[in-house]
Amino acid sequence: MYPEINSERLWQRHVEMAKIGATKGGGVHRLALTSEDIAAHRLLADWAEARGFAIALDDIGNMFVRREGADSSLPPVASGSHIDTQPFGGRFDGITGVLVAFEALEALEDAGIESRAPLETIAWNNEEGSRFIPACMGSAVYAGNEPLDDMRAATDANGETMGSCVDRLKAALPGATHRELGAPMTAFLEAHIEQGPELEANENIIGIVTGMQGYRRFTVEVTGEDAHSGTTPRARRKDAFMAANDMVQALRAELEDEADTVRFTIGRFSVEPGGISVVPGRIAFTIDLRNPVPETLEKLGNRIPEICRENAGPCTVVTDEFIKQPPLEFPAEIRERFTAAAERRGYPHQAIYSGAGHDARHALKLCPAGMIFIPCWKGISHNEAERAEPEHIAAASQIIADLLVDIANET
Ligand code: GLV
Ligand code: MN
Ligand code: MN
Repeated sequence: MYPEINSERLWQRHVEMAKIGATKGGGVHRLALTSEDIAAHRLLADWAEARGFAIALDDIGNMFVRREGADSSLPPVASGSHIDTQPFGGRFDGITGVLVAFEALEALEDAGIESRAPLETIAWNNEEGSRFIPACMGSAVYAGNEPLDDMRAATDANGETMGSCVDRLKAALPGATHRELGAPMTAFLEAHIEQGPELEANENIIGIVTGMQGYRRFTVEVTGEDAHSGTTPRARRKDAFMAANDMVQALRAELEDEADTVRFTIGRFSVEPGGISVVPGRIAFTIDLRNPVPETLEKLGNRIPEICRENAGPCTVVTDEFIKQPPLEFPAEIRERFTAAAERRGYPHQAIYSGAGHDARHALKLCPAGMIFIPCWKGISHNEAERAEPEHIAAASQIIADLLVDIANET
């Protein structure tokens, strides 16, 4: 027996969540473990506690909402995503996957359907990685792909540690029990907006994700010498900006391909000391490089430090690769289950590849995992204008609910 999800409630929960960190431009600014992010976790906990669901937190701040099963000793079947956003991000990236999963638990509760294995909604901590580096930190630590101590020691731009912020989250959720990192799960399912234009263009509601491209991320620090902009001749300058500019041009020429399969992005760029009349002595920028083909990612990524060195001119340059993740494929078994569920519900669907990174990557290390996408208006994401339709979100929740029940009753 499958529950019928309540699409109005699900949409209303989105409206409530979007108020926390709401921006003037209609988006959400809710960086990991800020007071807004903690308030959003608190709101989810309030909703969960009102339904009698248990809450747990682990040492990196992942939050688990649990609806007990007939056999509480079985590893839970889980679904979820993340609550944090990019700076001035949208209302759907992440939170939709959490609310879709939570609605599935509520719908089961409404219908009085008992599952054999327990069911859980997970809010993975710090997925976006824009306040604390790296991204997908919560799921990576849970899966043993990043060390807990190093990640708790990560600092934000003001020197605040991830660990102290996790402790603040814990204090805000006094009813939460402790969850061991790496505790087994039967399966993990993640729903997410597509963040691209394909489903909308094909008029499909559900994308069944085949795999995820790999990525490599670097910081680049260029050091020159501060100097007077009015008096220092060109030959005597060690202008870090001009050197960085040469690096960027060369990187672009070498990394961007005709077929447009390589994703090359400089998302942060800082100039110091930042005086209008000072030749800048220090530049720091980031590189995000992505590709679905392991060999291409390897070859191009390896060129990055070399290209930077070749174009440093009179300056020095230090590159640091702080994260490297290979492309991956989701198991056929989970994809087939998603396809069958979409067929049964009559939702137009297609297979789709993920250009974005998601927490399901790390969950896959622990258990069978898979993802579905829903359309995202004009493919716009990591942007305040991000938009998804209530009926598409409801369809995702229905499929997640159906699969949670199926898997939980088979284990
Ligand atoms: C996730 O937000 C990503 O950057 O892929
Ligand atoms: Mn996301
Ligand atoms: Mn994102």
